Amino acid sequence: MEKHLTRRGFIRNAAIGSAALAGMSGPRAPSVFAAEADKPALLGGKPVHRGGWPRWPQWNESWEADVVKVLRSGRWCRAGESGKDVQAFEAAWAKLLGAKRCLATASGTTSLIIALHVVGVDAGDEVIVSPFTFIATYSAVLNRKALPVFADTDPASLTMDPATIESRITERTRAILPVHIYGLPCDMDPINAIARKHKLGVVEDACQAWLGEYKGRKCGVLGDLGGFSFQNSKHIPAGEGGAVTGDSDELIDKCYSFHHCGSAFGTNKGKGYFTCGDNYRMMHYQAAILLQQFDKLVKDTARRRANADHLTSGLKQIPGIEPARLPENSRAVYHLYPFRYDAEQFNGLTRDKFMRALSAEGIPCSGGYREQYYDGVLDEATASRGYKRLFSAKRLKAYRDSFQELKGNQLVCQTTIGMTQSMLLAERSDMDQIIEAVRKIRTHSAALAKA
Ligand SMILES: Cc1ncc(COP(=O)(O)O)c(C=O)c1O
Repeated sequence: MEKHLTRRGFIRNAAIGSAALAGMSGPRAPSVFAAEADKPALLGGKPVHRGGWPRWPQWNESWEADVVKVLRSGRWCRAGESGKDVQAFEAAWAKLLGAKRCLATASGTTSLIIALHVVGVDAGDEVIVSPFTFIATYSAVLNRKALPVFADTDPASLTMDPATIESRITERTRAILPVHIYGLPCDMDPINAIARKHKLGVVEDACQAWLGEYKGRKCGVLGDLGGFSFQNSKHIPAGEGGAVTGDSDELIDKCYSFHHCGSAFGTNKGKGYFTCGDNYRMMHYQAAILLQQFDKLVKDTARRRANADHLTSGLKQIPGIEPARLPENSRAVYHLYPFRYDAEQFNGLTRDKFMRALSAEGIPCSGGYREQYYDGVLDEATASRGYKRLFSAKRLKAYRDSFQELKGNQLVCQTTIGMTQSMLLAERSDMDQIIEAVRKIRTHSAALAKA
């Protein structure tokens, strides 16, 4: 857990990457690095970067008063519309996104569960899902006792390949669940067109895509409903938290009822707890923290984008490094800065060793998601009594066999590397050093591969 910071500490924390680099970004810097460029840090040379990247989460003591106000009000729960922070957050988040409505929720996972329920996903249905994602996308579908059926991943964009959706649609398919993974917007026009043609709901997993844009509109308002996460690592964090966004009063009113134990709300009329529901409510504390961060999110997003664009322009010149391609007229927000790595262009240096070499140069990085459909959770679900009642043995076998067809996703899982979002809040000179470090590793890739 991050230690509490004073205002000065906050600024120091946020700027730690640049401060540490102040002496390195002047005219002397290139000669220092040129001298060290000969030997990779993994083989005993001097790292390109001195470390000290911006840390996450970041907060300010000026936020404390509003959190304490919630505490002293005694109104911590939004049930019965007591308190005002959650409602204020919903109005502000909807406005920022250009959505008609927003419902705050306990988490991103619960936002997806609610949205899937409200677009009509029921036990025994199927949902077309992006496989390259955090496990919560799969588990939200399993929570509805539906089958997450995977479209393939486009290796160029790292998102759902729309060309692979239609062949997966069956008479049970009820919805499509594209994921704007790492804040890279999916190509939503063809996805929405397929959904319209087959009368399917579209729930966007925008849990990593706060302020992502596709053709002038924000992620999370491109389908029927969108789900967001405000968990600790996210660009606008509250420890835990989520939201459902959309333009339909009817759908969001249903979301409200479902998230508040099935009580009547707005156009969703009834008596008492008249419809199916659960407790997926956000607390006022969470909203009070989120409300502090709107300006910060906007500013941070602009900075991440500018630095990511700079990285892309440098890294794409290096053979064997392929930054993610965005759909036309879209803007990513980079929860991770991802690229695909081709070991052949690096003298056979494995991805694992490349990542170790880059980390040794002072550039922390990690692989992307695994082929999680082999991890066990889907086998556990489909072997369960419930799923055996809901789906035929033939369907479940064909489902399991279909994982082998996910060649694009397999490639993406094997070759993606990412750097975390807070690194993109550092200086332009830090981005130059990332590019320099990758170049250095490529120059010495034969030696590194042998070592
Ligand atoms: C793509 C994606 N979907 C869903 C979730 C679930 O969000 P939460 O952790 O807030 O439940 C996350 C969170 O990490 C996510 O990254």
